Amino acid sequence: MNDFTTLYGRPPLVTVSAPGRVNLIGEHTDYNGGFVLPVPLPQMTTVDLTPRQDDRVIVQTVARDGTVQQCEYRLAEETRQGDWSDYVQGVTSLVRASGYRLQGFEARIESSVPMGSGLSSSAALEVALLRALREGFGLELDDLTIAKLGQQVENQFVGANVGIMDQVASSIGKPDMALFLDTRDLTWRHIPIPAAIELTVIHSGVTHSNVGGHYSQRRAQCTEACQRLGISELRELTAADLHRIDSLPDPLNRRARHVITENDRVLAMVAAMERNDAPTMGRLCHESHRSMRDDFETTVPEVDLLVDLLRFEPSVFGARMTGGGFGGSVVALAERGRGHLVAKKVMRRYAEQSGRQPVLILPQ
Ligand code: GLA
Repeated sequence: MNDFTTLYGRPPLVTVSAPGRVNLIGEHTDYNGGFVLPVPLPQMTTVDLTPRQDDRVIVQTVARDGTVQQCEYRLAEETRQGDWSDYVQGVTSLVRASGYRLQGFEARIESSVPMGSGLSSSAALEVALLRALREGFGLELDDLTIAKLGQQVENQFVGANVGIMDQVASSIGKPDMALFLDTRDLTWRHIPIPAAIELTVIHSGVTHSNVGGHYSQRRAQCTEACQRLGISELRELTAADLHRIDSLPDPLNRRARHVITENDRVLAMVAAMERNDAPTMGRLCHESHRSMRDDFETTVPEVDLLVDLLRFEPSVFGARMTGGGFGGSVVALAERGRGHLVAKKVMRRYAEQSGRQPVLILPQ
């Protein structure tokens, strides 16, 4: 009905997609030069696109209920609006500023990555649109450059001071594999998810945002901790250096402790995955969640409740909040084949106790 041909009267030249992500572990480590371990989701953002001969850009988004929204502008006249069109305008603005030649285009965007769920709906949109521009205009953009451009769109146009994890996960991640990324030198390795485990992801129903507020404050606190410690990034410290953070005032000491211990947990998680050690993976999830709750303070009571309900289920190895925080989703490691059942049971109890409407993301 609202397909590209109906909207624009001709078929699209290119159709490409990019996934959202769930982060297994390694939270708020990416802007500290640390380690992360995201997994691409089956939920995708899809962009259909056809170039135009002039410099006009017309983009329509089609919501899941069929509602269509449009943005229209001329290249070089991109302006921040404070809505979804910033991701589109930010992409064309940054691509051109990086020296690539663009013309106008018509595009249609559709997504199955829920917005505000902490599952990188914005990175999926940036990466999908950049892939569409690469194909549509024959741009020489490799996958890592696409991820870097996506992050610049967030930092320089949208005003979200995010790290690079989500864009790399969306651009470089492989389905059903975790992406072990070192954000200091941007090297990575794909790690299979142990067969005993079924990733289970539930959106708490509390909407999350990385723009402004808490996220920027956490980032600024990490920067201040580094300045006081005389280091350039928290990645430089390991568990053996934990005594050094005692000199920091509260809460900077706790912020630093989260990042330092979380980096260690990512390394331990990779090792546990490589030896198919599901119980250790579960324990690391719990420790990570506790650290986010008590030291980094990025959880909210609803998310803590959801994690607690999950972690006491016998068929769950472990659970934790995933993503930027202050709402959003949780990830649980369930026994393979049990994810759906356990999620439905926990969601019912969570809805009763919190009054929120949870959404099942995985298993689909
Ligand atoms: C958001 C940001 C990422 C990362 C996470 C927290 O998803 O986009 O860069 O900082 O929060 O781990």
